[in-house]
Amino acid sequence: MKEDISIREKILKLKEQKDVLILGHYYQIPEIQDISDFVGDSLNLAQKAKETTKKIILFCGVHFMGETAKILNPDKKVIIPDMNAGCSLADSCKYTEFKEFKSKYPNHIVISYVNCSAEIKTLSDIICTSGNALQIVNSLPKEQKIIFAPDKNLGGYINRMTGRNMVLYNGSCEVHEQLTSEYTLKMKRENPDAILIAHPECNDAVSKLADYVGSTQGMIKYVKESKNKKFLVATESGILHKLQQDNPDKEFIVVTSSESCACNDCRHMKLNTMEKVLYSLENEEYEIKLSEQTIINARKPIEKMLSISKKLGIIK
Ligand code: 13P
Ligand code: SF4
Repeated sequence: MKEDISIREKILKLKEQKDVLILGHYYQIPEIQDISDFVGDSLNLAQKAKETTKKIILFCGVHFMGETAKILNPDKKVIIPDMNAGCSLADSCKYTEFKEFKSKYPNHIVISYVNCSAEIKTLSDIICTSGNALQIVNSLPKEQKIIFAPDKNLGGYINRMTGRNMVLYNGSCEVHEQLTSEYTLKMKRENPDAILIAHPECNDAVSKLADYVGSTQGMIKYVKESKNKKFLVATESGILHKLQQDNPDKEFIVVTSSESCACNDCRHMKLNTMEKVLYSLENEEYEIKLSEQTIINARKPIEKMLSISKKLGIIK
C-alpha cells in the first residue's frame, strides 16, 4: 500500500507509539504549536515537564528549555529537534565570566532568568521566568542585596517597578533588544486605536511606551480579557498564532524595528521545523545530556522558583 501520510500524521502517530510528551513554546512555528501536547511560556512548560509521566520529552523551543526539562526529569530522555537552537541571551552569560562577576558582589543572592545555561543555574540561588520575576523579587526582603542575571532589560524593568537597585548582568536578547522607542512610537502614532503590549526583554525605552508589559502567557491572558480590538505586539512573531486563535475578532500588528524586516523571528526558535521534529521522534535525537552534579546543583534554584510560584498562587 502506498504510504501517503503527512508529516503531521507521522508525528502524531510516533508520539503515541513512543510515549512522548511534546512541549512547544509560543515562539515556535504554528505547525509545531499545533502538534504539541502543551504550548506555553517557559514557566508553564517547565511545570508541565516536571509533572509528566511520559517516557520521553520532546522540547520544541531552545536549548536551555530542554536543559530545564532534563534537570527536572533526570531519569527521562529529553530530546530537542536541533542542538543549534540556542539563545542569544543565554549565550551572553558564560560560566567563567559570570563566576568572576558574582565574586565582586559578596552578600548578594543571585536571581537568574531561566534563559541561561544549566551551568549558570548552578551559580544561582533562585531562577525566575518573565512570568514570575516581579513576584519572586518582591517576595524577598527589601534590604536583600540581589544580582540579577543575565537579562539587563528584564532586571531593569524589575528595578523600575520595585524601586530596588539590583546589580544587573549585561546580557540581552537580540530579538527584543533591537526594537527602538522611535520606531515603536511611529507605529503607535499610525495606530492610535491600538494597545501596545510588550515582553519585558524589550529595552526600557520600549517598555515605558507599553500599556502592558508581561511574559508571553501574560500577554495572551491580557489580550483575551481586553475589550480593545487592536494590539501592537512587541515580542517574537510566533505569539501571533495563539493570539489569533484565541481572538479571531481582534487585530494584531507585530512591532518591528524598520519598515520591512523579519527581525521579530527568533533565529534560534525558528530553527525547529516539522521535518526536524519527525526526525527527532524517529531517531530519539538530539538528547540533552548533563552531568549528575550539574543536575543536582541546577535543580535547587529551579525548585525554589517553583515552590515560591506555588506559594504565591502563580502556578498550581
Ligand atoms: P517567556 O518566559 O515569556 O516564555 O519568554 C521566553 C523567551 O525566550 C522570551 O524571549
Ligand atoms: Fe533567546 Fe531572545 Fe530567542 Fe527568546 S527570543 S529564545 S530570549 S534569543
